[in-house]
Amino acid sequence: MAVTAVVGLQWGDEGKGKLVDALAARADYVVRYASGSNAGHTVIVNGRRFVFHIVPSGILHQRTTCLICRGVAFDPESFFSELKSLQEAKIACERRLWVSRRAHLVLPIHKLEDEALDRLLGIGTTKRGVGPCYADRAYRLGIRVIDLYSPATIRQRIKTLLEVKSPLLRKAQIEPPSFDRLFSWCEDVSQRLQSFVADTAAILQKALNSGAEILLEGAQGVMLDIDHGTYPYVTSCHPATDGISSGCGVSLLPQRVIGVLKCYTTRVGAGPFPTEEEGDIGEILRGRGGEFGATTSRPRRCGWLDLPALKYACRIAAPTQLFVTKLDVLAGLQKIKVCNAYRIGQDMLTEFPADISVLEKVEPLFKEFCGWGDVKGVGAFSRLPFQALEFLAFIEEELGVEVGGVSVGSERMELLERRS
Ligand code: IMP
Repeated sequence: MAVTAVVGLQWGDEGKGKLVDALAARADYVVRYASGSNAGHTVIVNGRRFVFHIVPSGILHQRTTCLICRGVAFDPESFFSELKSLQEAKIACERRLWVSRRAHLVLPIHKLEDEALDRLLGIGTTKRGVGPCYADRAYRLGIRVIDLYSPATIRQRIKTLLEVKSPLLRKAQIEPPSFDRLFSWCEDVSQRLQSFVADTAAILQKALNSGAEILLEGAQGVMLDIDHGTYPYVTSCHPATDGISSGCGVSLLPQRVIGVLKCYTTRVGAGPFPTEEEGDIGEILRGRGGEFGATTSRPRRCGWLDLPALKYACRIAAPTQLFVTKLDVLAGLQKIKVCNAYRIGQDMLTEFPADISVLEKVEPLFKEFCGWGDVKGVGAFSRLPFQALEFLAFIEEELGVEVGGVSVGSERMELLERRS
């Protein structure tokens, strides 16, 4: 039996989807356990681009079973639209893609509420309704997938949801949906979803017992975790290792945790970002890296690699291996900078600050590396330019975790595994 988790160590968009797609070739099960359609996992195969928000990125491999587990804020609209794209690409999903009965539903009213709340809070959410869905779970107002099959329960919950949410929506000049609209939406979803609904925890337990290869697909990254991230500029769940057992509904300790990081840093939405480059370098990284949100198309904020933030993330996610993406984006730059410490005034910070007003004030200190040439065609990790190997060795040394592979382009073939 082998359980591998792929988690993000930065503010999301590290390139997890691509790695999950590659590892899924050897997996029996690929599992989403947290977050919702706010995630945007891009996979490019033979020039064809797939963006998965809710369906696990392993779906392109016909022999894998894909599970959307209890901890996912399940957005049926996103699910059906991804299903349609997969059908168009002649990828069959029936009897190998399952949605947990216990997952909470993202309803149309959650997306409106996300919009209304974000006007007040200014977090810059994806407006996919994920925060309000998780909030309703905690309020015990939520509708789960299983509840779709109990009209009396849906009726009562919709009534309460409208009572609670309508004043907030009206205050934001957003017209709440009618009871009938929400009810017929639920009826429609219940019919279209029925053949995908299952007890995913039981499926997973059976898979574990039989020694299957299981791949857990994290979303976003540690720095967006609701507790460990830069609160309140975070998402609303535990999208990395913390969310695994509770999100799967099965006690799981992965043998392998692959922490994915981009060789620079990006962030979407508001919140502190110590190594952000707002000038030319930021533009270059955004342009070359195609740094525009896969979910919202917003330009991503870009900056240099931030090791103090990564050290903190490693303490939380405990990766057994690192995977460094997008080395090709830095190719051709004369100098590459890596932040290896934070300072405030004359004081060096020894811990990543919990107080974001402190994080906003830190001065990042940089070590400079010589740039490297083209890496796209190198074909093997060991053939990377020595400057890139030096850069990777520094990351390993600082984070105390081995780099197990890199990506040098967006295609499947452009992942280079390190062989010892
Ligand atoms: P929410 O998850 O839509 O509530 O958004 C909360 C914060 O997380 C915002 O700053 C979003 O931009 C950010 N966020 C959510 N999902 C992703 C993602 O997949 N990649 C990068 N940022 C994300």
